[in-house]
Amino acid sequence: MTDAPRILSEPESYALLKECGITVPHHAVVKSTYEAVTAAESVGYPCVAKILSPTITHKSDAGGVQTGIHTPEELTAAIETIRHNISERVPDAEITGFVIEEQAPTGLELYIGGKRDPSFGPVITFGTGGTLVELEHDITMRLAPVSPEEAKGMVHSIRHYPQIAGYRGTAPLDEAALTDAIQKASTLFTTRPEVAELDINPLVLFKEGLCAVDARVLMRPPVAPPAPSRPPLPKDLFLVSRIALVGASANPEKIGYAVLRNLLTFSGTVYPVNPKGGEILGKAVYPSLADIPEQPDAVIITVPNTIVPQVMRDAGIRGIPLAIIITSGFREAGNEGALLEQEIEEIAQEYGIRYTGPNCLGLQVPRLSLNATFDPKSPKPGHTAFISQSGAIITTLVDWSLSRDIGFSAVFSVGNQTNIDFVDYIRLAAADDDTRTVVLYIEEIRDGRRFFEEAAKVTLKKPVIAIKAGRSAVGQKAAASHTGSLAGSYEVYEAAFRQAGIISAENLSDAFSLAMLLGSEGYPQGNRAVVISSAGGFCVLASDYAERHGIRMTPLSDTLLAEMNAFMPDGWSRRNPVDMVGDAGVHRFALTFDALIRHQDEWDIAFVVSVPTATIDPVNLATEMARFSRHTDKMVVGCLLGGDSTVAGVRILRDADIPNFEELEDAFRAAGAAVRREEELKKRD
Ligand code: COA
Repeated sequence: MTDAPRILSEPESYALLKECGITVPHHAVVKSTYEAVTAAESVGYPCVAKILSPTITHKSDAGGVQTGIHTPEELTAAIETIRHNISERVPDAEITGFVIEEQAPTGLELYIGGKRDPSFGPVITFGTGGTLVELEHDITMRLAPVSPEEAKGMVHSIRHYPQIAGYRGTAPLDEAALTDAIQKASTLFTTRPEVAELDINPLVLFKEGLCAVDARVLMRPPVAPPAPSRPPLPKDLFLVSRIALVGASANPEKIGYAVLRNLLTFSGTVYPVNPKGGEILGKAVYPSLADIPEQPDAVIITVPNTIVPQVMRDAGIRGIPLAIIITSGFREAGNEGALLEQEIEEIAQEYGIRYTGPNCLGLQVPRLSLNATFDPKSPKPGHTAFISQSGAIITTLVDWSLSRDIGFSAVFSVGNQTNIDFVDYIRLAAADDDTRTVVLYIEEIRDGRRFFEEAAKVTLKKPVIAIKAGRSAVGQKAAASHTGSLAGSYEVYEAAFRQAGIISAENLSDAFSLAMLLGSEGYPQGNRAVVISSAGGFCVLASDYAERHGIRMTPLSDTLLAEMNAFMPDGWSRRNPVDMVGDAGVHRFALTFDALIRHQDEWDIAFVVSVPTATIDPVNLATEMARFSRHTDKMVVGCLLGGDSTVAGVRILRDADIPNFEELEDAFRAAGAAVRREEELKKRD
């Protein structure tokens, strides 16, 4: 095979599909009208005649396809028409012959495709086919290999699935044959690395069986994936105790000063390094890494880009295993920067240094009082690891989290991900006992396949939530200039997230709401919800939000309703949502909680919705909710709505590890995402 990509001719494509078990029409390749008529005798009528030309990609557009041919005379005329059309529309086309093939009966026109994503590898696409494929855009995507379960999921997830399952009295089509064909296309991609692109369009689906009546296959010599051989990330990153700062500065306007000031709270030892020596912020400054009396566990670098290679070399000689390179001016800044980045990577390989960045904010581990960034704000300790490709998003988020009492187990800024990347940090977070949930802000993943495989393991242990930026073409361009990223197709990321069990969040607020919910409550056991409130309006809204986000308002049993009747006022709703009427005090909530504890088998999620009233003390209510939560292993979600009056109550909920939502719909959206994820997890088992 030559190095040039090559599109297979239609008969070659058919042969490839046949080889992997996908049905294609009976066909023959002919050179002349005489041969065509002879071939049609064995292919059978009605038949189709197609032009065979290496220079024509869209045969129909060129008038190179004639269908519905029933006789030798019609076939002769059809060949003549094709010749005429081509001479008119594509006069320079090279005609190598014609394909005469049986005409497949009418069926549903679908599409199966595949391509090799530069980051995630082989990807399979399925959807509606025919000439309107782009217009309809009813497609779904998965990373290959696709399991039988995933193939079935693909078929079920397109909007036109009812046409496959049988719609308005039409008989169902052969779904089993379809899922089998998707899997076969997936196998073709995973076993034949030279297959670069595949388009089967249309794939006609019948009540029994299917037939690929047109196919385009692009062959290209496979590119060997890069095999980075890196030492593992130091396991004790969460236990670093001696940190050097190269580029420490006495000038309060410099980043080297800001980082040193943040490091003053660190529970371990800090060694500022600057050739000028002396003292900064009360700390003795060492002229070089070599002068530090003990070997540091890590070095933070805040010197200009051209000096970084030398500092890395010094760190290597000093035996420092970990570097945090805050300096920018590398790949993201153009060719010269890219060369510098390559140089530091080579030095790191030579000395076995793992480093984060360059062009990153640094990292924060609140439980160590470690703020190895130039962000003046340090987050509170908590149970969410936040791994971000944008430093600005970290500083904004940390600021936001402080007023909301939201804490972090760690905050990592990955920067250009030249050495330590998302995968390393996800692994680290997965192994950390303090981390319950992982939130990712992603612009680009450089080795998507490795990320996918690792994330699929991590999500079995801990929830991983991702926000993928760069959905729009403009966003992708912005990402490229920001961290030097060449973001892949958004759809491929979505597919990879879905398959790896990562929950995709639309924005930071959704991501952290969900992290808060899953971090404190875990996944719900099912989607049966009960809403307890004294506010009729919010009961109505809750029902709407439940439906919108896939939460089922479960009917309550007669026994439970009878028990509640004993302490409820006359006008109460007597159904779910449990509207206890506006004069309800905390006692009525407490009695309702007790009834629900006695009937825990009836529900999976309880939303407790309260609004400021004269009869409800948020602190007392929160205390009762904490008791409720302690006596059930079901999900309890707080929705103490209002303003300042709720603050003390919300704090009690936070201490009791109960999530609280300021917006009612956010609670349902987060719970809905958790339910969907749990259902997918069950399918994976
Ligand atoms: N060892 C130790 N210190 C050294 C050194 C060496 N080999 N060479 C120089 N220094 C000192 C400098 O003398 C200076 O200290 P001083 O203030 O006492 O003179 C200090 O290191 C910093 O060097 P300086 O030349 O003043 O650089 P700077 O502070 O203006 O800029 C960076 C350095 C890293 C901040 C800058 O290059 C940069 O990359 N900024 C952007 C960072 C960024 O945005 N990152 C991404 C965030 S998401």
